[in-house]
Amino acid sequence: MSADTVLILGGTAEARALAKDLVSDGRRVITSLAGRVKDPALPVGDVRIGGFGGIDGLATWLRDNSCTAVVDATHPFARQISANATAATDELDVPMLTLRRPQWQPQPGDHWLDVPDIAAAAKSVADMAADNDTLRVFLTTGRQDVDVFADITDAWFLIRLVDPPERAVPRHHQIIRSRGPYTVDGELDLMREHKIDVVVTKNSGGPLVQSKLEAARQLSLPVVMVRRPAPAHGEAVDTASAAATWVRQLLS
Ligand SMILES: NC(=O)c1ccc[n+]([C@@H]2O[C@H](COP(=O)([O-])OP(=O)(O)OC[C@H]3O[C@@H](n4cnc5c(N)ncnc54)[C@H](OP(=O)(O)O)[C@@H]3O)[C@@H](O)[C@H]2O)c1
Repeated sequence: MSADTVLILGGTAEARALAKDLVSDGRRVITSLAGRVKDPALPVGDVRIGGFGGIDGLATWLRDNSCTAVVDATHPFARQISANATAATDELDVPMLTLRRPQWQPQPGDHWLDVPDIAAAAKSVADMAADNDTLRVFLTTGRQDVDVFADITDAWFLIRLVDPPERAVPRHHQIIRSRGPYTVDGELDLMREHKIDVVVTKNSGGPLVQSKLEAARQLSLPVVMVRRPAPAHGEAVDTASAAATWVRQLLS
């Protein structure tokens, strides 16, 4: 077992794949999860759960655990933890890499409405509802963003979540709880069954939940696509294996 300790900021499939690679090298890996999901998919290696307490808390944790490298493999929309990790590793001069899966790109036949953030997505849906008094929306942006749509009272929402919502939800809705991956056929069935008019999603990227995009394309449905926030500064890769190579070269 190497004396080095690698912190993976996790919560994604890529973070779990990276932990698996590094643990199989015999490295000490600690994956950190925010603790938002009640029954998270756990990576191999050590796991800690819960916030660090801002930049200072993270810096203290890195020092106390003699951490020699950090890989930020959090979700592309998890902005705060990435900013904190950049600041804490800069302060301690600990090398950090960002691992972000590639974004989804529109394909021929897609009708994407590109919006800069979740508030703009809600505005688009409200505008569509103003033109269509029976608008049916498939909302797949995740639990933390549902409340942004709560004031839209003249549309119906199919809301897909892993855990139940904790904040306000739109008045007319149905919640389905599930976790990907999903198949194109399953997504087609779901969208047809609920007579969906528009899909709303963040541009998370990755294969696990992209079937909804193919299904929307086949049904000629518009997709309100929330753009990713700007990436963190510094070195970045887009696959777990490239991140593993970075760690191996750094700690060889
Ligand atoms: N945002 C999404 O759409 C999304 C989707 C799927 C999975 N996730 C995962 O869920 C987690 C939370 O997402 P978020 O958007 O709420 O993050 P966020 O806004 O960037 O982070 C808010 C706070 O949560 C804590 N935190 C976040 N990720 C953490 C981690 N991996 N380990 C320890 N603490 C963490 C930090 O608290 P302290 O300041 O106290 O350290 C952070 O300041 C992320 O780790 C992400 O990978 C997010």
